[in-house]
Amino acid sequence: MSGEGQSAPAEQHEVAVYDRGAAVVQADAFENPGLPPHRPRQTDLHPAKERRAERQVVWWFLLSMVGSVLAIIAYVAVPIESGDMGTVRFNNLFLGLGIALALLGVGFGGMHWARQLMSSHEVVEERHLSRGSEKTRARAVEIFQLGDEESGFSRRSLIRNTLIGAIALVPLPAVVLFRDLAPAQDAVEAISNTMWKAGSRLALDPTGTPIRASDVTIGSAFHVIPEELTSVTHAEGYLDQKALASVLLVRVPLDRLNEQPARAGWSYDGIVAYSKICTHVGCPVALYEQQTHHLLCPCHQSTFDVTNHAKVIFGPAKRPLPQLPITVDDEGFLIAQSDFTEPIGPSFFERLGRVDPEHVPLSAAELETRA
Ligand code: FES
Repeated sequence: MSGEGQSAPAEQHEVAVYDRGAAVVQADAFENPGLPPHRPRQTDLHPAKERRAERQVVWWFLLSMVGSVLAIIAYVAVPIESGDMGTVRFNNLFLGLGIALALLGVGFGGMHWARQLMSSHEVVEERHLSRGSEKTRARAVEIFQLGDEESGFSRRSLIRNTLIGAIALVPLPAVVLFRDLAPAQDAVEAISNTMWKAGSRLALDPTGTPIRASDVTIGSAFHVIPEELTSVTHAEGYLDQKALASVLLVRVPLDRLNEQPARAGWSYDGIVAYSKICTHVGCPVALYEQQTHHLLCPCHQSTFDVTNHAKVIFGPAKRPLPQLPITVDDEGFLIAQSDFTEPIGPSFFERLGRVDPEHVPLSAAELETRA
């Protein structure tokens, strides 16, 4: 391969370098160093070692079979019971162990077989132009035309068109099936209503201890749930409700808070509450930078400015975190003025026109009157 390149005239190199389809052509090819001497393996030299390697491969494959059977037994013997996280954990653990064993057994067995027992010799494959010769290309066209002629694909247009229609429709059942995997409830409705309502106390996650405004010092951040959530069991959808209603509560200096007039009453003495569900694809926004008052989503680094209605200042999120309007009750505990006024979660839903930026929740006075 290389020796030929060295002795070829310069003009031939020019042609070869620019010839389309050539994978690699070196103008200054060096002499082919040849292959190093073949080194036989231990299994090539000693029949006893060969037999031992054979047994090892068999053991790997047997282990794989055991793993597969274990996975099936685990799936049947440890069923998942709705609302019981213990059964989910055990089911996943044993199922995972079985499948891992099955895959590892096949993988290691195959690798060991190839490395120790399959024939071992060096092979050289010369690179060649990927473009076929003119003769090959002409023959390919000829075969294609012959196929067209014999099948009548071009001639029998009705058959051809119905075939195209049938192929186009084949994926449709899959589309319908996958569509049916989506929740029966309208997705936007599902994320438009959370447990928050007028008067809900803001409570620490996960203890459910109500939070007084005086507990929230400047620079601190609280992970918050509605107090009522603590009385919801897992079977009643605790996790679903928590995923909707989780909130981050922070207090920023009043002179740093830049509130829109329509939302002036949504915070309390510099304390603001925002949905913890990122508006990009829904990860929990859990990192708070105390000095800059930025909230950071660890998934794709979307960054929200708490002093500016949690507007996006970096990253792929497309809209601010929804704000939960809050105030305090007679005992000084922080309470919600209403539910969120827009769907929480990914900003895709905003494009459906479901966000109501003009919505103003109840004022504290109105809230008091209603209570
Ligand atoms: Fe938060 Fe992507 S989910 S940045």
